[in-house]
Amino acid sequence: MNPSYAERVHLQLNFQVDVCFLGKESMMIKVLLLSSLLLISISSGCAGLTSAFIRNEWPSVDIPLNNDVFAVPKGYNAPHQVHITQGDYDGKAVIITWVTANEPWSNIVRYGLSEGKYDFSAKGTVQNYTFYNYKSGYIHQCLVDGLQYNTKYYYEIGSGETSRNFWFQTPPAIHRDSSYKFAIIGDLGQTYNSLSTLEHYMQTGAQTILFVGDLSYADRYDNHDIGVRWDSWGQLVERSAAYHPWLWSTGNHEIEYFPHLGEVIPFRNFLHRYPTPFSASKSSSPLWYAVRRASAHIIILSSYSPFVKYTPQWKWLEQELKKVDREKTPWLIVLMHAPIYNSNQAHFLEAESMKVVFESWFCHYKVDVIFAGHVHAYERSYRISSIKSNVSSYPSSDKSAPVYITVGDGGNQEGLANRFRDPQPDYSAFREASYGHSTLEIMNRTHAFYHWNRNDDGKRVPTDSFVLHNQYRGDSHRRRKLKRDSI
Ligand SMILES: *[C@@H]1O[C@H](CO)[C@@H](O)[C@H](O)[C@H]1NC(C)=O
Ligand SMILES: *[C@@H]1O[C@H](CO)[C@@H](O)[C@H](O)[C@H]1NC(C)=O
Ligand SMILES: *[C@@H]1O[C@H](CO)[C@@H](O)[C@H](O)[C@H]1NC(C)=O
Ligand SMILES: [Fe+2]
Repeated sequence: MNPSYAERVHLQLNFQVDVCFLGKESMMIKVLLLSSLLLISISSGCAGLTSAFIRNEWPSVDIPLNNDVFAVPKGYNAPHQVHITQGDYDGKAVIITWVTANEPWSNIVRYGLSEGKYDFSAKGTVQNYTFYNYKSGYIHQCLVDGLQYNTKYYYEIGSGETSRNFWFQTPPAIHRDSSYKFAIIGDLGQTYNSLSTLEHYMQTGAQTILFVGDLSYADRYDNHDIGVRWDSWGQLVERSAAYHPWLWSTGNHEIEYFPHLGEVIPFRNFLHRYPTPFSASKSSSPLWYAVRRASAHIIILSSYSPFVKYTPQWKWLEQELKKVDREKTPWLIVLMHAPIYNSNQAHFLEAESMKVVFESWFCHYKVDVIFAGHVHAYERSYRISSIKSNVSSYPSSDKSAPVYITVGDGGNQEGLANRFRDPQPDYSAFREASYGHSTLEIMNRTHAFYHWNRNDDGKRVPTDSFVLHNQYRGDSHRRRKLKRDSI
């Protein structure tokens, strides 16, 4: 049967399971064809699915600079490119960043518990820099700390006629049953598709973005325009990032190693603009760090910094994993840019070296899920690892392994990676080459609801979904059950 285009557009796949032990336990995949209201159940062992959805090709071009989405607020020295991120280890602080064009004043953030009533203030720092012949505006960074959990704060930056007002909501206290909704976005860029992803995220009710690298794609421009496109991206994301914290990890597009421009220090534009709370987790670099938020411990790795044995990143991760307390934060989430498991032609096996170095730790510490970007398509794996194999790239089913999810489908100007390897490997559960983002809604210590939301010509369509069962809890539950059974 060859479904018509309209049927394919409405194809919705709903997974009721999150774990598939390749061939060992049978499972049912329910394929719900909404368009024809036809319900098909396939008892398929564990074959993965390659979605037949073909999206209407929207041109993946950057939005022109004179578009309203990049407009800087009117008025002399008005703060713009406002964005926030977590400012400490446990979620009682934020770092607020903004840019002013004309003068370095003011570094003050006024904040309080109701709109317009700012009883508190904090003072930040300001810096400016050049990148080749581009001169940045004045970049302000201010740590606002000592906050209460689960509280909405209002804040004001700038002064006089050009002051601006925003708000943010602190997360609940660190507790094993704190519920929280994250979204995951990668490889965003600044096209019409990027804007669509951003707008769809803002409809989900998620509270924090886990960003898996490749922010602005400004590095695709030349000379002065590189800095200009970092600025426009800051304007694009402000609509979300001034209110919701984005947790940053870096991708290859942040490296910007340009000897022909005399720019040879990697990550310079990123590091000046997007601070991270790295010292709170005793990291020696803003590019890798960890935070705890609600019931999650989130570890951010850098695919493009040294990570082999004995390097600073390796030593830091070794220590950080020991600090994870699954009684307090049962959810252990890792972010990186280049995916360790990927069955797309694009970037196939590119992250093998990181897999060789870190995979045994991910299994030993029972990481729940690893999110990556880089490949401009969506893909989800079963729980698999290569640690028992002596041929490193040959994975098999492993109950202690994380689920690997690639969401490099934010919608940048490079377009989609629409050539998957054929046949679909056993480890790949679902894959689709279209734009979108994911949400991870943690309910309590044992259950989280996961969705991948496709951008479907202006609509957000939840497409791949499953219940993520906590790895640590699942395991202790199994142990308890085993004990009971053996009596
Ligand atoms: C920073 O701004 C000052 C003016 O306030 C200017 O004199 C200086 O050259 C700028 N620095 C850089 C690195 O662009
Ligand atoms: C690799 O594994 C296979 C099967 O598990 C085994 O037969 C073979 O001896 C192993 N090779 C090495 C070099 O360990
Ligand atoms: C956790 O959440 C799931 C899904 O909402 C629910 O079925 C389960 O009973 C909850 N467990 C606890 C211990 O609250
Ligand atoms: Fe990338």
